[in-house]
Amino acid sequence: HAQSDTVKIGVVVPMTGQSASTGRQIDAAVKLWMAQSGGKAGGKKVEILLRDDTGVADVTRRLVQELIVNDKVVAVAGFGLTPLALAAAPLATQSKTPMVVMAAATSSITEASPYIVRTSFTLPQAAVGMGEWAPKNGIKKVVSLVTDYGPGNDAEKYFVNQFLLNGGQVLEKLRTPLRSPDFAPVLQKVRDAKPDALFVFLPSGQGAQFMKQFGERGLDKAGIRLIATGDVTDDDQLNDMGDVALGVVTTHHYSAAHPSAMNKKFVADFQAMHKFRPNFMGVGGYDGLRLIFKGLDATKGQGGEALLNAMKGQLFESPRGQILIDAQTRDIVQDVHTRKVERKDGQLWNVEFDVQKAVKDPGKLK
Ligand code: DHB
Repeated sequence: HAQSDTVKIGVVVPMTGQSASTGRQIDAAVKLWMAQSGGKAGGKKVEILLRDDTGVADVTRRLVQELIVNDKVVAVAGFGLTPLALAAAPLATQSKTPMVVMAAATSSITEASPYIVRTSFTLPQAAVGMGEWAPKNGIKKVVSLVTDYGPGNDAEKYFVNQFLLNGGQVLEKLRTPLRSPDFAPVLQKVRDAKPDALFVFLPSGQGAQFMKQFGERGLDKAGIRLIATGDVTDDDQLNDMGDVALGVVTTHHYSAAHPSAMNKKFVADFQAMHKFRPNFMGVGGYDGLRLIFKGLDATKGQGGEALLNAMKGQLFESPRGQILIDAQTRDIVQDVHTRKVERKDGQLWNVEFDVQKAVKDPGKLK
């Protein structure tokens, strides 16, 4: 039986539907990495099989099954939403196929299969820093608003607990649905509650619509500050949000404005190839593919348990800064920055002004 000189990697993301921007970002980043790396790893040619799961978990499950059984991929990657990652996890376990989560960010995802490694982030990792920053910066009373599913639960819990520990007061905890949210009724409640600030988590792709309604309802004019995880001031949409976004403070692991040499080159190359700005999903995809390539280099193109083990403990510089795949948890350890939206040279950016170094997922520090 001749050894194949090609290895296949399945990338399963929403390319259509409400989370299409996540798929578009990851696809673009994968194409950039393929061009920069020459598309070879472990002495073999790498072939990417991109699949659109439309953001529906049953479709993710079917596509991942086909990629593993029919296409014999060495790894599956992508996973744009928590329910999609959770749907695929048992298939990774049963087939012993490494699964690289490039986007989804509920803390517990890595515990759903020992074959999962993650290159995105976790909401506890992103949200705890805001629970520190806000009470030290004149914000004593907040309302929180999160999307009602895994990452929203994590963001609310870890922000609120840290905020309370630092002497803050939480007036109300509000939720919106994942599918087709209408922010008007919750924003009215926020107005009536008159907090110093509103804390928000929404998944990538919903930030622009939210920001528009925040402005239209006059919450900024009423003196209610907006604080959030960086999912809300998403670099994919930020530049079109307008003045209402100016001054919004967020905590997150990636900004397209991160001032390292590697990031400047990454953003320039990405924009030259695709004509749009990379966001945190793009970086998760870029680093995820790079992680698989480094693993394949170590195993000389072998997949399965060997590839999984070769990805554990990897440490490298990413456009976001240094990252580590924790060998015990298989989750990512990375810097989390506090950022403020500013206009520079006519464009809006998340400008980093403070950092927590090498943050492990607080959801796993029990
Ligand atoms: C998830 C999705 C997002 O778009 C995001 O910004 C954070 C988390 C998720 O479903 O896990």
